Amino acid sequence: MTDLSNSVSIRDLSLHFGAVTVLQNLDLDIKDGEFLVLLGSSGCGKSTLLNCIAGLLEPTDGQIFIKDKNVTWEEPKDRGIGMVFQSYALYPQMTVEKNLSFGLKVAGMPKDEIAKRIARAAGILQIEPLLQRKPAALSGGQRQRVAIGRALVRDVDVFLFDEPLSNLDAKLRSELRVEIKRLHQSLKNTMIYVTHDQIEALTLADRIAIMKSGVIQQLDDPITIYNRPRNKFVAGFIGSPSMNFLNGELAEEGGKKVFRTNGVSISLAGYEATEALTPGRKVVLGLRPEHIKVDGDVTTEQAHEAIVDIEEPMGADNLIWLKLAGHTISVRIGGARRYKVGAKVRLGFDMTMASLFDAETEERI
Ligand SMILES: Nc1ncnc2c1ncn2[C@@H]1O[C@H](COP(=O)(O)OP(=O)(O)OP(=O)(O)O)[C@@H](O)[C@H]1O
Ligand SMILES: [Mg+2]
Repeated sequence: MTDLSNSVSIRDLSLHFGAVTVLQNLDLDIKDGEFLVLLGSSGCGKSTLLNCIAGLLEPTDGQIFIKDKNVTWEEPKDRGIGMVFQSYALYPQMTVEKNLSFGLKVAGMPKDEIAKRIARAAGILQIEPLLQRKPAALSGGQRQRVAIGRALVRDVDVFLFDEPLSNLDAKLRSELRVEIKRLHQSLKNTMIYVTHDQIEALTLADRIAIMKSGVIQQLDDPITIYNRPRNKFVAGFIGSPSMNFLNGELAEEGGKKVFRTNGVSISLAGYEATEALTPGRKVVLGLRPEHIKVDGDVTTEQAHEAIVDIEEPMGADNLIWLKLAGHTISVRIGGARRYKVGAKVRLGFDMTMASLFDAETEERI
């Protein structure tokens, strides 16, 4: 059943294009006022899901509720949603003001109400000086703001964004990202935001739904997704550079649980799920580059010696790639700390921040 604190509820939703299954038995509840990000690689079904919520695609099976009303068969315009696409889809022959007012005029809204809404949206998006210009005379970022404005003037319950920033250059993208966050903080509407950019997902979302082949792999707040990924796919998808993965097996040495790889034993002291660490089990150990300590920072009892293979200074951070027991491991250290290629480094692994996955199922242990 639906819950009044939910803004959007998706029940058992499936969508097939002929023989191709894009979404299968998908359930998702989005809370009132929540910023939910749908994250996944190209072709995983993000836009398809968003288009079903918007009413632009008819699901094969299942139901969609918006504000507790079954809208599965409602027209897009009757769903209380506003959608912003990747391509701005502005009318080129109309000024910004006309682009914003057009839909409202067609819907028969009184003139003074239209003017009020445009003034409010233009204020929020800081596009007042642009109202009399046509889209051709705007930058990409300004056009995207107008596209958001068109959803804003409609005063909807739920905003749907489909990769609204992906046509912009990196600098503009990070600027507009902050503006979208500010917009959500002031409007407090429910927002469903599709992206394949993990930084957008981590920075914007209250919760992230990570999708793969039409199936939600994990639905959690960004920190939980980052620190406790439910499976190896999620672990590898989030984080740049990617989490280090070491294949090996569990063992017991002197009564202590260890992870063994290529003749090296790494203590698992501090790992959360001690019960499930059955000796002999084939596993993958996952460690993020910032959760490996080097030299003076090593606080664990056990240290391992590794050799610097490559150094990538990135300003604030320095990324060093090290060889350990036949593996190449990336470690993030402060930008001021430099290492020479070939140097010996002592490594300490922080098992409280580690992830172990079953080698077969790739599920978190
Ligand atoms: N009309 C269609 N007929 C057949 N297959 C389709 C159709 N529309 C989409 N698909 C397929 O459905 C899958 C999901 O597409 P969708 O557009 O939802 O992906 P996406 O996650 O939004 O990807 P992107 O990040 O590239 O936008 C893709 O494999 C796509 O090829
Ligand atoms: Mg898409």
